[in-house]
Amino acid sequence: MMFTDTTRRPGFFCRLARALLKLALWLLAIAALAFAAGYGYYAWKFSGPVAAEEQVPPGEAAMTQDIIQTAIRIVDQHREPTRYLRDAHAKAHGCVTAQVSVPQNLAPDLRQGVFAEPGKTWQAWIRLSNGNAYPQFDQLQDARGMAIKLLDVPGKQLMADQAERHEQDFVMFNHPNFFVSDVAEYRQNIGAQADGKQALAFFPSLDPRSWQLRHLLIAKATLANAPLSPTLATYYSVSPYKFGSANVKFRVVPDPASCPAYTVAKQNEDLPNFLRTALHQQLTTDQQPACFMLQVQRQDPSKYMPIEDTSVQWKESDAPFQTVAAIRVGPQDFDTPAQNLMCDNLSFNPWHGIEAHRPIGGINRLRKAVYEAVSEYRHARNAGFGTAP
Ligand code: HEM
Repeated sequence: MMFTDTTRRPGFFCRLARALLKLALWLLAIAALAFAAGYGYYAWKFSGPVAAEEQVPPGEAAMTQDIIQTAIRIVDQHREPTRYLRDAHAKAHGCVTAQVSVPQNLAPDLRQGVFAEPGKTWQAWIRLSNGNAYPQFDQLQDARGMAIKLLDVPGKQLMADQAERHEQDFVMFNHPNFFVSDVAEYRQNIGAQADGKQALAFFPSLDPRSWQLRHLLIAKATLANAPLSPTLATYYSVSPYKFGSANVKFRVVPDPASCPAYTVAKQNEDLPNFLRTALHQQLTTDQQPACFMLQVQRQDPSKYMPIEDTSVQWKESDAPFQTVAAIRVGPQDFDTPAQNLMCDNLSFNPWHGIEAHRPIGGINRLRKAVYEAVSEYRHARNAGFGTAP
């Protein structure tokens, strides 16, 4: 006769496996709860309505002065032997001429400022750049910039001491949101970076409440691989602007349908300046134009579309982008020593413009003082080298 021992206890490994499984389930449940709590918190925190006007926090002007000193320090740190460069976007892929045209059928409510006259074509300069303060290899992860300067713009300029400019600038890069919210955070972040204390930039203290994990992720996403060519990227103003009485963010998107069919040839990405080469191949060697659309996204203050926080991307599901102009960069020989020097000596600034497109929000108020100070500083130093106009 055979007996089966039904009372036998499971072995050690079996019990261990069960305990580990239980632990894993608990951890999963805690992670799910934390995710739900985080999601709920951000859904609550990032919900409208928001202010439709600027709200200037106390102490902003003093912080701005401090940031100017840091910016100048960065310019000094990255200077070349015979040239002072920009504090940001130091390396240009080229400055090209362009035409910016307002469509004949532009909707009446979009006819604001430089877009007021349907059919109007503005002559413009466009400077394409890498974001870093140091002119590094294009292959390295970085933001990519597009700065547009419309010429011969009538009307009073926003900056009283720049009355003779007659320009309207749009200064953008290829990511929709910024890695800081406001001036206070910018001061702390850039200060840490300029001191070489990168770890402190997003984790300023041991207190977890001061950690800026979301902003670190934005910074990581902004520093991205290079596009095949600067003509294939989408560029965002990131910060808001007036658009008549409305508030908008700008965006420039490639518009290949408005140009003859052209495929950008893949360049040797090991070469330091392959983005310049791609631009040169399209516009100069192949004599092919590049087309873009300039668009606006209007603030709906009933949604979470804040003016004072550049880390928040305005959702397209809350407000779609609308095209207000076509940009055409025609075939041209832009890569000449004279034009490259002229390009380096240009100053783009969101505040070079007219009241209808006044920059708004803390980061834009900060940029007013900093761009002017850095531009003046590098021009004054370069005059000493005989390379400034
Ligand atoms: C909204 C976010 C921002 C965007 C989209 C942006 C974009 C750009 C671009 C594309 C350029 C190159 C312009 C050119 O080609 O000459 C530039 C330059 C510059 N940016 Fe920004 N930037 C932003 C925020 C800031 C902030 C917060 C600061 C510092 C307060 C800053 C400081 C500068 C400076 C000093 C220059 C060089 C100005 C010159 O020397 O002419 N930027 N930026």
